[in-house]
Amino acid sequence: MFLKLNQIKKSFGTGENRVQVLKGIDLELEKGEFCVLLGPSGSGKSTLLNIIGGIDSADSGDIIVGSNKMADMKEKQLTKYRRSHLGYIFQRYNLISNLTVRENIEVGAYLSKNPLSVDDLLETLGLKEHQNKLPNQLSGGQQQRCSIGRALVKNPDILLCDEPTGALDSKTSIEILKLINEVNERYGNTIIMVTHNDGIKEMADRVIKLKDGMIRKNYTNEFRTPADMLDW
Ligand SMILES: Nc1ncnc2c1ncn2[C@@H]1O[C@H](COP(=O)(O)OP(=O)(O)OP(=O)(O)O)[C@@H](O)[C@H]1O
Ligand SMILES: [Mg+2]
Repeated sequence: MFLKLNQIKKSFGTGENRVQVLKGIDLELEKGEFCVLLGPSGSGKSTLLNIIGGIDSADSGDIIVGSNKMADMKEKQLTKYRRSHLGYIFQRYNLISNLTVRENIEVGAYLSKNPLSVDDLLETLGLKEHQNKLPNQLSGGQQQRCSIGRALVKNPDILLCDEPTGALDSKTSIEILKLINEVNERYGNTIIMVTHNDGIKEMADRVIKLKDGMIRKNYTNEFRTPADMLDW
């Protein structure tokens, strides 16, 4: 088992306003598994992703990555884990606005011990001719491709994607999904992708549905449907 979550609980707020968002999440993922995480707005998808990503911490429960327990990691190890083993793709790109496409991706490469080639990635992402542009000179899809590049250049063991196509039209979304799928097949990264779009679940190995702080469904697909054949 590569990634194991054991009874993860998380609340926000204090006193009367305290809300338990995650009520005991158990999850096991194999290395290279492509997992889609579904659930209504406010069900705790981003919260769970942030906890797996070491950006936020759980109130209780264990996360085991490879042979390491996250709770046992000191701040320094946690930073190292985030830097070298984790890629994060946000819904709203989060690019650095005064750096070019190439430089934004290079930031990711500096953080990794064994980065992928920036030139190869620019080629794969279809960004070669845009590499010297600033983010505000790009379309939404191009910006998202750039942010995918920044996450991927580290060749992370785990790639967390929080609604990577949330802000994109369907044609661009399919392009981005194809790219994420290709990355998973080529590099074998374990992927957890949050989406609101129910149709997208067919392209995953595993589908997880979150509701009221619990996992309500967790099953594997027998076949992965290619992104361009999904029912949108
Ligand atoms: N830092 C925080 N402080 C207080 N409450 C929070 C915080 N982060 C999240 N919450 C609350 O936790 C709940 C789950 O939020 P979360 O962002 O994980 O939902 P989500 O499933 O990602 O929703 P969406 O699909 O809208 O992105 C929400 O009710 C939210 O208001
Ligand atoms: Mg969210």
